[in-house]
Amino acid sequence: MARIAVVTGGTRGIGEGICLALQQQGCKVVANYGGNDEKARQFTDRTGIAAYKFDVGDHEATIAGCARIVDDIGPIDIVVNNAGITRDGVLHKMSWDDWNEVMRINLGGCFNMAKAAFPGMRDRKWGRIVNIGSVNGQAGQYGQVNYAAAKSGIHGFTKALAQEGAKYGVTVNAIAPGYIDTDMVAAVPDAVLEKIIQKIPVGRLGHADEIARGVAFFCAEEATFVTGATLSINGGQHMY
Ligand code: CAA
Repeated sequence: MARIAVVTGGTRGIGEGICLALQQQGCKVVANYGGNDEKARQFTDRTGIAAYKFDVGDHEATIAGCARIVDDIGPIDIVVNNAGITRDGVLHKMSWDDWNEVMRINLGGCFNMAKAAFPGMRDRKWGRIVNIGSVNGQAGQYGQVNYAAAKSGIHGFTKALAQEGAKYGVTVNAIAPGYIDTDMVAAVPDAVLEKIIQKIPVGRLGHADEIARGVAFFCAEEATFVTGATLSINGGQHMY
C-alpha cells in the first residue's frame, strides 16, 4: 500500500518540489495550502495531486483539515512541515504582529500538524515527519529575528519529537535549506540578494528539487535509523 504523505504549503515553491519527489517515490501525496486558490488549482491540474486548504497556524482548522484528509484518502503516514512565511524587518521596525504571525505559522504549524498526525503514526508504529527549517535558523539573518527564531525552534522541536517517536517507528528529521529559487527569496531586495549569493560557495541559488531529494531520503522505507537529524542543503553557505 502506498504511504499517504501530506505536504504543507505544498502547492508552490519548495513544497511543490517535495510533492513531486514523494509522488515519484510511490507515495499517495496530498498538498495543503493556506490562501492562493488559483495557484492551488493550477498545481492540481498539473500534477493530479489533491490540495486541501487550511491554515496550519490555526490549531482547530489543522485538526479538522487533517481529519478531512483521513476521511477522504486514509491515515496519514508522512507529514512534511514546509509551510512558512516571512515578515522581514529590523527589530526596531518589526511589529508584535510580524513576530506572532511568523511564530504562529512557521513554528505553530509544526505543532498543529504533529498533534493531528503523530498519534495515528504512533498507534500504527510507522511514521515520518520532516520539518523544513532554514540556514537562517542555524546562522541567524539580519532583519529576521522572527523567522530565525521560528526556524531555530523547528530544529529543537525536531530533536524533542524524535525522542518521543523513536520507539514507535516514527522518525522526525529536519532539512535546513539555504537560499532557494522561490517566490519567498525573490522578495528579498536585489542588492541584498546579490550580496548573499556572493557568500554561497556553489555560486547560485538552490532549486526546489534539490531540497526535495533530501526530504525523499528521510521519508524512505529504509530510513529507519535516521532520526533527530538535520540535513543542511545550502550550497556551502553555512557549514558546521
Ligand atoms: N548585515 C549588516 N548590515 C546590514 C545587513 C546585513 N546583513 N543588511 C542590511 N544591513 C544594513 C544596511 O547596509 C543599511 O545600513 P545603513 O543604514 O548604514 O546604510 C541598514 O542595514 C538598513 O538596510 P535596508 O535599507 O535594507 O533597511 P530596510 O529597513 O529597508 O530593510 C531588511 C531591512 C528588511 C532586513 C532588508 O535588508 C531585507 O529584506 N533583507 C533580506 C533579509 C533576508 O535575507 N531574508 C531572507 C528571506 S528568504 C528566506 O528566509 C528563506 C530561507 O529560509 C533562506
